Amino acid sequence: MEHWGSDMEAVGISVRLGRKTILRDLSFAACPGHLTAIAGPNGSGKTTLLRTLTADVRHSGTVTINGQRVSDMKPWELAAIRGVLAQATRIAFPFTVIEVVGLGLAAGTAAGNASLPLHALERVDLAGYANRFYHELSGGEQQRVQLARVLAQVWDPVAQDGPRWLLLDEPVSSLDIGHQLLVMELARDFARSGGGVIAVMHDLNLTAMFADRVAIMRDGRIMDIGAPKDVMTDHVLSSAYGCRLRVNATPSSDSPFLLPQVATVDSGQ
Ligand SMILES: Nc1ncnc2c1ncn2[C@@H]1O[C@H](COP(=O)(O)OP(=O)(O)OP(=O)(O)O)[C@@H](O)[C@H]1O
Ligand SMILES: [Mg+2]
Repeated sequence: MEHWGSDMEAVGISVRLGRKTILRDLSFAACPGHLTAIAGPNGSGKTTLLRTLTADVRHSGTVTINGQRVSDMKPWELAAIRGVLAQATRIAFPFTVIEVVGLGLAAGTAAGNASLPLHALERVDLAGYANRFYHELSGGEQQRVQLARVLAQVWDPVAQDGPRWLLLDEPVSSLDIGHQLLVMELARDFARSGGGVIAVMHDLNLTAMFADRVAIMRDGRIMDIGAPKDVMTDHVLSSAYGCRLRVNATPSSDSPFLLPQVATVDSGQ
């Protein structure tokens, strides 16, 4: 599915928080069928961009989803189209796992399907966790419960009225390598089935493996956006992150992979 229609689009976005300009006249587009990654150093504006796309932050400029202006949409209309995994989620009440996942079901459009939260838990390898208390789970388990909640919200990648979207802020940050692969495969499958995925990522090797496109951010701007093999170069990444990075290609494919170059330590001898 190679069509580059801009079905999630942000044009001329600026965001000021307090006295600081966080995003500067930024434009970004992602299309369904693709996993689009957003990478860049801490504080570069990735979460702010994602929160702009989800209409959670005041901004100038225009954001559209499936051709509709986000600012004109009601919260329940947005909830029917896109699910959001935040960078960190605190839950103040002693909810069980199935209650947390059920919050997604209630927000979305598949509310008649009562067994869906259990299916969503299976998808994130948490079968059997339904009646555990959320606050008693490990960090990685909690992150997967939150992903199950988002999945329960936008279960079908394509609805009658258009594609659905997963907006994921660091979806694998607390996960072990096996569960990182599981979650990235799940996100890629959602895109392959016609949905749209936008994922903020710190792991550049996973990004290179799974993303169809990657945007590299720095200082509130997108430095470059395109296919990983075009964008993830020594020069772009080293200057984005301010450290020496060497990009290689895996022998089995031309997917880039990265090795940080450790500065030579002068032992003083
Ligand atoms: N509510 C706020 N008020 C003032 N400044 C803020 C606010 N939220 C974020 N910022 C600032 O905006 C900048 C971008 O923050 P953002 O959370 O978008 O970064 P990020 O790229 O997601 O970083 P990380 O990789 O650490 O998650 C940072 O310098 C941050 O300090
Ligand atoms: Mg962030």
